[in-house]
Amino acid sequence: MLSGTVIRPAFNISGSHAPTLLKSDAVARLVSTRKRQWSGTYPQVLMGSRRLISVYGYTQSKALVYSRYGEPKDVLQLHKHSISAPHGTQVNLRLLAAPLNPADVNQIQGVYPSKPLFQTTLGTQKPSAVAGNEGAFEVIATGSGARNLSKGDWVVMKQTGQGTWRTHAQLDESQLIKIENTEGLTPLQISTVSVNPVTAYRMIKDFCEWDWMRTGEEWLIQNGANSGVGRAAIQIAREWGIKTLNVVRERGTPEETDALKKELHTLGATAVVTEAELLSGGFKNIVHELTNKGKEPIRLALNCVGGKSATAMAKALSPGSHLVTYGAMSKQPVSLPSGLLIFKNLVFDGFWVSKWGDKNPQLKENTINDVLQLTRAGRFKDIPVEEINWNWDTEGSELASSVQQTLTGYRSGKGLLRYEGQD
Ligand SMILES: NC(=O)c1ccc[n+]([C@@H]2O[C@H](COP(=O)([O-])OP(=O)(O)OC[C@H]3O[C@@H](n4cnc5c(N)ncnc54)[C@H](OP(=O)(O)O)[C@@H]3O)[C@@H](O)[C@H]2O)c1
Repeated sequence: MLSGTVIRPAFNISGSHAPTLLKSDAVARLVSTRKRQWSGTYPQVLMGSRRLISVYGYTQSKALVYSRYGEPKDVLQLHKHSISAPHGTQVNLRLLAAPLNPADVNQIQGVYPSKPLFQTTLGTQKPSAVAGNEGAFEVIATGSGARNLSKGDWVVMKQTGQGTWRTHAQLDESQLIKIENTEGLTPLQISTVSVNPVTAYRMIKDFCEWDWMRTGEEWLIQNGANSGVGRAAIQIAREWGIKTLNVVRERGTPEETDALKKELHTLGATAVVTEAELLSGGFKNIVHELTNKGKEPIRLALNCVGGKSATAMAKALSPGSHLVTYGAMSKQPVSLPSGLLIFKNLVFDGFWVSKWGDKNPQLKENTINDVLQLTRAGRFKDIPVEEINWNWDTEGSELASSVQQTLTGYRSGKGLLRYEGQD
């Protein structure tokens, strides 16, 4: 992942604190020689309020790290370190934006299947991992061997698990996907493209053989429709002529629930119902009416909630259809009446975009490009976000408490870290 020889604990090269931590490479020798020879302030380039790049090419960085599993507010810490000038095919990156996804929090809690690498390469006292799995970065410097990336390019991580909640990073260019055409795109759009929209796109495309002769007559049903994945599914299905029946949780008042329904209709939802409606005895009739008296089949269900919600969706499916589980927000197991398997021959699948992306890197890149194409054309709307502005002076506890909010539900938008510092 990160090269241990080039990323070092932070040292303050201004004022009287001379660097003492570098020992093993030529730069370290140069710095310590200068320290002996010269007792004044160390040379540096200070641009903007806190931009600090030494003449030796080191960039100061901060990363949200954890060295043990637990609640984000208890285990996340802001760690300061220095990043050297990139060598070979390495590139140095500056964070533009990074979302706070539910899976990121589950990973910090230690309940997510993919475990991060705990290591000391960033100079932390204990082996630590950088949190976050998704984000958009700008290339600020490239090594002499870099062929695919140049300064100013915008990139996303090729794989999850690289640690995106950091102001700067140094990676090999092979670990990154370059966004070829950034025209008209924002950091928010690029930082949130590689997980949720890709998940929605692949589930709709890969788990149902849609009958394209029946465009506009086939349906999918999904719960968690207000989530990032849910909103993406609504828009991708709309583009492909698939009708969507979307389930959301009731809000505090009927007016708020109506406003949410209206918002999803604006994205292209064909129908929006509440969880209470889904679980009610009358849901069968609602489906009958919506589907032209049952003539239009519901051929796919997307489940990120589990429990009774998943069971009710399964009952609405046409024979031979698939229910794909990709999340478990209610923490309730999926339980199924045996008849759905025996008499309706339903198929129950799971999908995990991290594993899929690792196996299909090119397809992942193509999928990202397809979604960005839609975004550029104004046909894929931004998810609502609650921005957390991260500048050089932002306290770690402030960031950790924003991360803690991620799983609280009924939010006005997904948390989004926006780094406002300089290179
Ligand atoms: N398998 C994969 O590859 C994959 C990829 C991406 C995401 N996911 C999973 O998909 C789910 C959604 O992720 P996201 O990033 O799209 O989420 P998000 O935008 O952060 O939104 C979270 C959603 O979960 C809903 N929710 C929270 N608690 C709930 C509960 N107890 N019952 C029903 N709904 C609840 C919220 O509903 P309200 O709007 O009503 O608050 C909200 O819509 C998560 O479980 C995530 O881990 C899986």
